[in-house]
Amino acid sequence: DAPRPDDLLALALEAARAATRLLVDERPADLRVTAKSSPTDPVTEMDRASERLVVETVRAARPGDGFFGEEGSDSAGTTGVVWVVDPIDGTVNYLYGLPHWSVSIAAEVDGTVVAGVVAAPVLGETFVATQGGGAFVERADGSRRRLQVTEDVPLERALVGTGFGYAAERRAAQGAVLARLLPQVRDIRRNGSAALDLCDLAAGRLDAYYERGVNRWDTAAAALVAREAGARVGGLRGEPDSPQLTAAAAPALFERLVEVLAGLGADAG
Ligand code: IPD
Repeated sequence: DAPRPDDLLALALEAARAATRLLVDERPADLRVTAKSSPTDPVTEMDRASERLVVETVRAARPGDGFFGEEGSDSAGTTGVVWVVDPIDGTVNYLYGLPHWSVSIAAEVDGTVVAGVVAAPVLGETFVATQGGGAFVERADGSRRRLQVTEDVPLERALVGTGFGYAAERRAAQGAVLARLLPQVRDIRRNGSAALDLCDLAAGRLDAYYERGVNRWDTAAAALVAREAGARVGGLRGEPDSPQLTAAAAPALFERLVEVLAGLGADAG
């Protein structure tokens, strides 16, 4: 029998809580200084420790499942369930002590994401979704609110989130696209966590999001949150979202955004 999305969500939440506790409680006070001078990057150490804890927590409950994670987990498993894990999305924010970072965990069944958690402990928010079950934000005070994207925003009034890759050449291309998009929108945000950008879109705090070069672990959980809140998430020409380009917005704005981005060659370079 296929596992129930709600059960997978509960396990994802348990794993996310363990990882966020570790990342908050064990964050070295001098992380930024040490990160500069140490040969083994402590951010990577925290990334690895977080991914290890997620894998251990899930494995204790479901030993046969597979994993795909930013820090190297890659196993198919035997159950049809694969957990897609970003142990810290927004690593640079985490490094600098900025609050905008998250732990992202998605559960795929036979290649389809059916449950997702994006936990942002410093913001006190956890975004959750199950396929067909809606998207919600749970706050540290125990409250829970259903998420819904903002509809009917024209591009010129859209607040658009985006992000940049790490390679210089990619950044130059992204900067060139941004320079031509900026005059056509309300404003741009670069908050530093692709997963939280999609969750902010779901919560109506951004009207749209696009980025070239994101990885499967950055968006697996958050794309479900955005879709369950009414967003379209996809690529430039009707294909699914991919490293070529991930765009997301309420359906009408999505259409317009990808038209403009295609005209700007946002999926090249
Ligand atoms: C990064 C963040 C950032 C996005 C980058 C990602 P990481 O993930 O999501 O917002 O612009 O493309 O690589 O490296 O912090 O896990």
